[in-house]
Amino acid sequence: MQIIHPESKVVIIWESLIVLVTLYNYLAIPFRIAFKTSSGGIWLILDILSDSILITDIFLRFHMGYIDQGAFINDQQKIQQHYRANDFKINLIASFPVDILIRVLFPSLPGYVIGIARLLRLLRGFQCLGIFRRWENNVNVNPVVIRMINLVMIIFLIDHWVACVWFFIGETTKISNESWLTSASLENARTTTQYMKSLYWSITTLTTVGYGDITPTNDLEIAFTLIIMFLGVSMYAFIIGNVASLIANLDANQGRFREKLDQIQAYMRERRIPSPLQQQVRDYYQYMWEYSHDASMELDFLDELPHSIKTRIYLHLHQELLEKVPLFKEADKGFIEDLVIKLRPRILPPEDYIIREEQLGHEMYFIKRGEVIAFSEKTGRVYRTMTAGMFFGEIALLYSSRRTASVKTQTYCELFVLYKDDFDQVLENYPRFWEKVKEIAEQRFQTK
Ligand code: CMP
Repeated sequence: MQIIHPESKVVIIWESLIVLVTLYNYLAIPFRIAFKTSSGGIWLILDILSDSILITDIFLRFHMGYIDQGAFINDQQKIQQHYRANDFKINLIASFPVDILIRVLFPSLPGYVIGIARLLRLLRGFQCLGIFRRWENNVNVNPVVIRMINLVMIIFLIDHWVACVWFFIGETTKISNESWLTSASLENARTTTQYMKSLYWSITTLTTVGYGDITPTNDLEIAFTLIIMFLGVSMYAFIIGNVASLIANLDANQGRFREKLDQIQAYMRERRIPSPLQQQVRDYYQYMWEYSHDASMELDFLDELPHSIKTRIYLHLHQELLEKVPLFKEADKGFIEDLVIKLRPRILPPEDYIIREEQLGHEMYFIKRGEVIAFSEKTGRVYRTMTAGMFFGEIALLYSSRRTASVKTQTYCELFVLYKDDFDQVLENYPRFWEKVKEIAEQRFQTK
């Protein structure tokens, strides 16, 4: 059998199924014990179905590779050793068919005993926590969403378990004592009503809402209620804290951006910057957020990455520019890879001078978005309007001369800057690029 990659789609779907089966066990087992359900009918079908999946999983994992220090291990022997040393034993114990043995050996035992016999299945919960942790890193979904689903599931399971125990106490104490079930006249109600009332009590108590319409009547119930109220207060704080931080992280980038903008606005108000200028600053950040999601924030983390990964990320980030600039389209791969990590993004508002005629030049620019004009300060003559995919500022770099024209933005512009040192390095390594840039520069020089 072929070795499966642990991060493949098939594995993600299979693991979702394992989570679902485990969820079924976590819901059904306490319910069946507390509500003393029968062990046949739908329960038997669901048990057989879910157990078959868990048993298949035990064998399937012998054919599932694993990741060790970033490398995919697909050697059958190593996989077996690794699995045996890790999850194999716990998975085997979790699937041990105690319930089937009981069904065969003691067919007359009541249904809830089957529930107790299936308690071992809960051991799969540990595997599910691991699955969620892996999903946070590997699945192409916002990790916050995964954490949120995990949190909601755990909260619901706690509510459910508490409801089941609450009912179990009511049911066992009602024989010798007054119990919450008798005082709420629920002892002969349908199971669904009994479960809903128990869950209602569990959620109102755990969330500290406590309507007080279902109250403990005997000592055991009072003791249990006290424990749950205590648990509820701590859980409430835990949930509120977690949900608040999860929501804040849902779009962490936007949160950080908003924080930055708030700081800038506070600063401008303090320094009494004139209102029109404040508006310009706000417009600038607004543009920056809408079009590039504040690319300046990304760069810090990118610089920490190894060169090869960083290059691949830059190739992806600059894809739009690379497609737009004709000069890059024909260039060879090595040149592009060398160049992309040297480009620095810059966003400029309309009517902004990028280059002033006669000044010394230290960089050239590629236009990703927007429109600029090259013109003469002295005569006011416009040489050229330049748009996405074009470049400028190359003449001063090529000939180590002063700027031959002024360049000003007409609209908001997204540019990429290439500094002189980097430019010289690129020219040195790729003379063909030098020839092409020179050809264009000479044409421009002549049309002045
Ligand atoms: P540089 O001289 O470094 O700075 C001004 C830039 O304007 C220049 O490089 C060219 O990129 C650009 N430029 C100057 N003259 C023209 C022209 N006639 N047509 C297009 N671009 C020009």
